[in-house]
Parts: sequence; C-alpha cells; structure tokens
Amino acid sequence: MFAACSAILWLLAVVSSTQGANILGLYSALSPSHLIIHMSTAKALAEAGHNVTVVTMMQPKVMHKDIHLIVVPVTQEQADAMENQMASMAGSRNDIITTMYLLLNGLDVMITSQADLLKDPRFQRVFETKFDLMIFGCFFNDFQLGVAAKLKVPVIVDWMIPTNTMIDQFVANPTEVSYVPNESTFATTPMSFFKRAENLVKDVILKYLTIRFNYKFNRIYNEIFTDKDMPTLSDMKKNISLVFVGSHLISDGPIRPLVPAIIEIGGIQVKEEPDPLPQDIAEILDSSSQGAIFLSFGSNTKSYMVKPEIVAIIFKVLSGLKENVIWKWEDLENTPGNASNIFYRDWLPQDDILPHPNTKLFISHAGKNSVTESLYHAVPMVVLPIFGDQPLNAALLVNSGYGVSLDLQTLTEDAFRKAINEVLENDKYTLAVRKFSALYRDRPLTPKQSVLFWVDYVLRHRGAPNLQSPAMHMGFIELHNLDIYALVLTILILLVLLSQRAVKFLLGKLVRKVKAPAGKKKQ
Ligand SMILES: *[C@@H]1O[C@H](CO)[C@@H](O)[C@H](O)[C@H]1NC(C)=O
Ligand SMILES: *[C@@H]1O[C@H](CO)[C@@H](O)[C@H](O)[C@H]1NC(C)=O
Ligand SMILES: *[C@@H]1O[C@H](CO)[C@@H](O)[C@H](O)[C@H]1NC(C)=O
Ligand SMILES: *[C@@H]1O[C@H](CO)[C@@H](O)[C@H](O)[C@H]1NC(C)=O
Repeated sequence: MFAACSAILWLLAVVSSTQGANILGLYSALSPSHLIIHMSTAKALAEAGHNVTVVTMMQPKVMHKDIHLIVVPVTQEQADAMENQMASMAGSRNDIITTMYLLLNGLDVMITSQADLLKDPRFQRVFETKFDLMIFGCFFNDFQLGVAAKLKVPVIVDWMIPTNTMIDQFVANPTEVSYVPNESTFATTPMSFFKRAENLVKDVILKYLTIRFNYKFNRIYNEIFTDKDMPTLSDMKKNISLVFVGSHLISDGPIRPLVPAIIEIGGIQVKEEPDPLPQDIAEILDSSSQGAIFLSFGSNTKSYMVKPEIVAIIFKVLSGLKENVIWKWEDLENTPGNASNIFYRDWLPQDDILPHPNTKLFISHAGKNSVTESLYHAVPMVVLPIFGDQPLNAALLVNSGYGVSLDLQTLTEDAFRKAINEVLENDKYTLAVRKFSALYRDRPLTPKQSVLFWVDYVLRHRGAPNLQSPAMHMGFIELHNLDIYALVLTILILLVLLSQRAVKFLLGKLVRKVKAPAGKKKQ
C-alpha cells in the first residue's frame, strides 16, 4: 500500500516536473538550413519538458519524439513555380539585395505560400490548443504574427544569423552602419571611406526594400486577419518580447551594440557533448595516431553530383596520404577506389567525428552548419564550395585563417595535395581554430541554457515589456533628434540673416556718411 502510494506520488512529481508550457513554433521557411536552427531551439525546449508543437512546410531533419509536428507542404504548383525561379536564379550572382527584389516580384510564391499556410485546415488546428508562447521563425513572413494575436500569446522571434536591419526593427536595435560591416562587404574595421560608403548604400537599399516588404505584409495581414478585435500588424511588431539570433559576437564579431531584448544563441545546433561513436568508426579513429581526415559534402550534395574526373583526383590525392580518411559516400557498391587508408560510409555522425582528438582535418563544401561544427570542435578545413552561401562562407573562413578554399570545378591534383599538406603541417590554421573555439565556448550560459532561461523568463512574466527599448515608440524624427537640430538650425539661420541685415544696415549708414562729403566735393 505504502509502496503503491509513493509510486503514485513519484509519478505525479515526474509528470508535473516535465509538464511545461504549451509552446508553438511557427517555422514556415522553405530552407532546410533555417529549419535545422529553429528545430534545435524546439528540441531544447522539448527536452526540458515543454509541450512543443511545431508547424513547418518541410520535413525537418532535427526532431524530438515529444514534439507535435504539423507539416503542411507547398502545393505541387507552388513547388514548380519555385523550382522555375530558382533555375533562373542559378548561374547569376545572387546577393541578398537581388534575392529580395526577386521575392518582391517573381519569387512572390515564397511569400504567398507562407500566407496560404495560415488558411490550411491542418494549420487551423493550432487554434484549438491554449498556447502560452509562440516562437516565430522569421523569414519574409511578418504577417504570421497575426497567429500570436489570435492566440493572445507573447512572441519570441527566432533568426538564424547575426541581426540585421530587418530584425533590428522588432526591438529598435541600433543599426550601426559606420562601423558594423556587413559580412558581404568584406571589410576589416575601422572601414575606409569607400567601404563605409558601400555599407551605407547597402543599408539604405535594404531599408527601402524593408519598407516595400512591410507594405506587402500589411496587405496580406489585413486580408487574412479580419476579426474586429485584431491589433494591426504594426502593433504586433511593437509587441515582440525577445529576439533569438544565431550569433556570438564576442568570438564571431563584428562587435556592435545589442539591446537587451536580443539574445545570442549562436551554435544552438551544435551538440554540446558528443555521443559515443559507432564501434567501427571509433576503432578507425582510435587507431589513427598519425591523424584522420573527415570528408563529407553534407546532406544536400550527393557524391554523384561531383564530376567523376574530380572524384578521381580527390581519390588519388587522399590514397597517397599517411593519414586515414573517413569519406561520406552514398553508393557503397561503386566507390571511387580501394585504398588501405580510406574508409567509405554512407552515413556518418559528423557531430561526433569532429570532436575526436585524432580528427585533424575536415574537407567539406563549406555549408554553414558544417563550418560552425568544425569551428566549434577546433578542426581546420579545406573547403570546396559548390553553390548558395558556400562561396561566401568559404571566403570568410579563409579570411579568418581557419583553412584553405579551392574551386571544385577546376580542382587539380597538385593544388589539392598542396592545400591538404598546408593545413595539416602549418600550425597557424589549427591555432586559429583553437583560439576561436575557446572563445566561442566561453559563455555564462550555453546556447541551450540561454534558450531555456529566456523562454522561462518570458513565460514567467507573460512577455518582456520591461526589456523593451523606448525607441520602439519613437518616430524617425524624434529618434534622431531631427526636430531639435531643425530648431537649432532655424535659429542659427535667423541669427545669420539678422546679423547680415544689421551689417548691411550699419554699412549702408557708414557708406552714406563717407559718400556724402565725397559727393559734395565732386559737384
Ligand atoms: C500539448 O500540445 C498539443 C497540441 O499540439 C495539445 O493537443 C495537448 O493538449 C497539449 N498537452 C497538454 C498537456 O497541454
Ligand atoms: C502584447 O503582448 C502581450 C503578451 O506578451 C499581450 O498580453 C498584449 O495584449 C499584447 N498587446 C497588443 C497590443 O497586442
Ligand atoms: C549582410 O548581407 C548578407 C548578404 O549580402 C545578408 O545575408 C546578411 O543578412 C547581412 N548581414 C548583416 C549582419 O546585416
Ligand atoms: C574494391 O574491393 C572490392 C572488394 O574488396 C571489389 O569488389 C571492388 O571491385 C574494388 N574496387 C576497385 C575500384 O578496385
């Protein structure tokens, strides 16, 4: 009897301690890499015992068994439209600005599909649950804030990279264009005159496009959320509790001010402690006292996408090394070749291989998540970027001395062998990544702990209006004191005009006095 009672009590205690808040994650971005970051946040919350419901438009790679997942994929028509647009974008150089122009025009379907989601019956089910908080994966979908208004819950914005002009607006974070170079500006600080000009122009264009987007988002919001008691979209944007950003500026830079409502959780997708390796991989790595190289082109690039000639070059160089090589290769029936130091596997736990002390080099395509994991575990890199953001990631990591980048399409045996030897033998790469890794991990709270603490904070206080900058409620003119400058300028102009008048008047008198006797003489 006593045992049964205490068992029930124990059960109750366990249940109540794991029964957290009802949290809705709205992550409709059509990008796998965004989804990895957002789902890592959701996973941390589910692990901590919150009842997390996630809505996405793609099947996520990161998952947790307790997350209630609602996937509402785009229609075939929308998928085709996107494919066509992407095809026309490929080949031309795309930066954020041209991409945004496309989103406003041709790629409109990216936005409308995220609006259609809200009308879908599968989505509408979220309104049956009483939620306590919404975490909003933000990417050209501001109008979805109406969901939080309907649920009457506080909102935390989740953003994948360092804050920028579009994210700053949610919490009135100052955008310091004169000394915060955009990563694509490739400037060292302090910036030269021309770099500052470039940065300023980029910012003005981004601001202008943000206004265009806001106009569009307002229209969509007013179409979807027609209830009488709904706040406006701009009210909702002034009521964001916190913003989670994927940065850690004190190791990552550039140093810049952040308002307290911006919480840095950069690296949330990285496992803090590695899991045990599969037996065979552990044996290979443990016995690689001469060093091991890990090669993987990520999950989006299949090995067959790389030209056979290039694969042959990669094999030839790697098979001639004394280091062991673990190569992610899907087609185990047709491997690039047999060599005693090369081990092919179709699936590999990247996050657990990189931390192994014998892993000395990571050869990858410079995908954002691969670079972050490699840096976290202090493994220098040789990268062969292929598409998307990979060339930019590669350029940035070369700039910081974390590795060497080569063009995959024009790869030669000689250049590849040189690059590998350079990174393996020259200490400076290992030292640079070690230094970064030490700074990156040195935080009062890990990214996961930050997520848990700040989510609980918002839940405890039902929002975080105490953290809000007063600048949120000021217009452009007041915020920049333009009215005061205008008054001072007016007074100065008046004074100048008055003194001009006075001088003219006095001069006139003087001249008349001088002229009068002279005039008399002439006559
Ligand atoms: C957890 O969330 C789901 C919605 O996804 C809801 O149906 C369920 O009632 C919630 N559980 C609790 C204990 O509130
Ligand atoms: C702002 O959010 C809080 C919850 O954080 C909510 O109680 C309040 O009604 C919201 N205000 C507006 C104007 O939407
Ligand atoms: C800098 O520009 C890039 C692309 O040009 C963009 O993806 C990124 O968000 C910007 N970063 C910041 C911090 O503004
Ligand atoms: C590699 O070895 C396997 C058997 O161990 C063999 O089936 C395969 O044909 C070999 N591949 C090459 C390219 O020699």
